Amino acid sequence: MTALLQCRNISKSYGGVHALQKVDLKVEPGRVHGLIGPNGAGKSTFIDVVSGRTRGSGTVILGDTDVSGFAPNRRRRMGLSRSFQRTSIFPALTVRSQFELAAGWVDNDNTADLIDMFNLRGVLDVRAEEISYGQQRLVDLGLALVGTPRVLLLDEPAAGLSAAESHHLADHLLDIARRWNVAVLLVEHDMDVIFKVCDVLTVLETGKLLIEGPPESVRSDPKVIQAYFGSTA
Ligand SMILES: Nc1ncnc2c1ncn2[C@@H]1O[C@H](COP(=O)(O)OP(=O)(O)OP(=O)(O)O)[C@@H](O)[C@H]1O
Ligand SMILES: [Mg+2]
Repeated sequence: MTALLQCRNISKSYGGVHALQKVDLKVEPGRVHGLIGPNGAGKSTFIDVVSGRTRGSGTVILGDTDVSGFAPNRRRRMGLSRSFQRTSIFPALTVRSQFELAAGWVDNDNTADLIDMFNLRGVLDVRAEEISYGQQRLVDLGLALVGTPRVLLLDEPAAGLSAAESHHLADHLLDIARRWNVAVLLVEHDMDVIFKVCDVLTVLETGKLLIEGPPESVRSDPKVIQAYFGSTA
């Protein structure tokens, strides 16, 4: 299968801190690719560079287009969408207004489908700050899906959710990848979610790619156990 998103040699330094060092990663349509690693490993920085929010070095290819020099909005219009580690919704706006605003940026308005999919019809006229945190995260995910992106970069979408909410979110992620053929890159600390939905895993450690492979082999790899627990025991 051809990768829809190809990231090559992605590097980023903040002063003397090498947040990312020559990381290669590909995501295929219809697949969920997990990106995991300890705190500070460079996961959010990777999403920031690939989405164009942060200037780094390396090459980002979307489909057959080199988008490395493109601004974030242009990447988004081409189908490269993302969510943020902290929710990016506007607290004082109603759920309906947020979807309407997002729909204004895209050609195909799929917001009605998203509102149904995430069961948000009952809270459309409620301000985002007044809905539950779990619903806020669903609004966040829904907004990233407006316009039916081809690639979705998610930064800890399950953070702060209950076990039941995380489980539900995981089902949605699988659905988005399989039914809509979206290429999903998922940064997540919740290992239940990771092992439930990921087809392939990449592990970062201090900005470097430690290992990539099927979830089961990554889970039992001594290098990964060392990186997470500081011991191979
Ligand atoms: N704006 C910034 N200025 C300076 N250093 C930064 C900045 N953003 C990130 N870093 C540093 O880059 C490294 C990678 O950070 P990053 O946030 O990408 O890690 P992460 O894997 O997302 O961690 P977490 O799991 O805690 O979210 C860290 O050493 C961090 O301190
Ligand atoms: Mg992060």
